[in-house]
Amino acid sequence: MASSKTITVEVDDVSYIDDVEPRLLLVQYLRERLGKTGTLIGCDTTNCGACTVHLDGVSVKSCTMFAVQADGHSVTTIEGLARDGKLAPLQQAFHECHALQCGFCTPGMIMQSASLLAENPHPTEQEIRDGLEGNLCRCTGYQNIVAAVQAAADGTVSADGTVSADSDEAETAGVA
Ligand code: FES
Ligand code: FES
Repeated sequence: MASSKTITVEVDDVSYIDDVEPRLLLVQYLRERLGKTGTLIGCDTTNCGACTVHLDGVSVKSCTMFAVQADGHSVTTIEGLARDGKLAPLQQAFHECHALQCGFCTPGMIMQSASLLAENPHPTEQEIRDGLEGNLCRCTGYQNIVAAVQAAADGTVSADGTVSADSDEAETAGVA
């Protein structure tokens, strides 16, 4: 590749040095070069959010960034969220609240939700809906996704998957 550029990027806590064409999209780099196929492509116009990852902790649509723009930065995909085999609270909450069906939107939805909760740890229902407006889902009708984010925010789902048994908030969030 005559016009290739060398990038150094950290993805899910692993450092990579790669030669990439300047036009290679970050989502293509993640999927095709690194095999991170949990990051998905659902459109070609930046609408769906299925490709959402974190760049230095903030959500971005990886279909709308070039891999060269990630040079020197840290990327987290859905595959970097679990720790020591334990689901992150948001992953567990999506499971507990039945917030997915086909699962195609789910990685992007969870990455966006994580970014949302980092910015606003205790969002209202409306703030969750607004915060996820860049992520489309064809299956769930969104209701249980909102409940899952609320449950993760309320701490009614813990990192080890334990759901607090007697919490009223858990019932409200559709967890109990
Ligand atoms: S693939 Fe649809 S927004 Fe990125
Ligand atoms: S679970 Fe199928 S698109 Fe969201």
